[in-house]
Amino acid sequence: MAPSLTIIGIAGSLRKGSYNAALLRAARDLAPAGITIVIKNIGDLPLFNQDDEKNPPPSVRELKEAVKAADGLLIATPEYNYSVPGVLKNALDWVSRPYGDNSADDKPVAIMGASVSMTGTARAQYHLRQMFVFLNGHVLNMPEVMVPAASDKFDQDGNLTDEKTRDKVKQMLEAFVPWIKRLQGGK
Ligand code: FNR
Repeated sequence: MAPSLTIIGIAGSLRKGSYNAALLRAARDLAPAGITIVIKNIGDLPLFNQDDEKNPPPSVRELKEAVKAADGLLIATPEYNYSVPGVLKNALDWVSRPYGDNSADDKPVAIMGASVSMTGTARAQYHLRQMFVFLNGHVLNMPEVMVPAASDKFDQDGNLTDEKTRDKVKQMLEAFVPWIKRLQGGK
């Protein structure tokens, strides 16, 4: 029987023409049967302030609840200055708090990223993996989806046109399903 899994998708760029947002939309469209990827916008989250973590604004509450209820998390991260963009860190800081109410706890996670350089977000992805150690998320190791020279891989309308990248995204999603099942104990 096809699985029925809901995955929350987050892109770490607020840019209208973002390659990472486009990569996430491509993943949503390429997802195998039974997988629903729900894309959440993190642009309306305020800057994290620990004074508000126990009584967060509605946008934060909504994101935390969606992540908590989901079977998995899929993040498309740009690389900014060899790391993840502040907006993504900000979203994850909200998701992780307050102490004892980490919405990403025990969550299966998959990471991908697109960059205009030749390193394809490798450095940002490894920083993100490191964050998920403290968040106790379980990040899929392989296949890695690192998209270099992103401007060559998408058309003007933000469609992922590069066949090799489309295949890689598909392979990653196909590997993510058994990873989620395994972590859920074969449920
Ligand atoms: C970048 N860019 C970039 N690229 C990269 O491969 N390594 C890096 O360290 C950086 N650093 C960086 C810092 C800042 C502040 C910006 C704005 C950009 C370029 C980056 O890959 C490019 O802007 C992508 O298009 C960003 O992803 P989105 O917005 O298209 O999803």
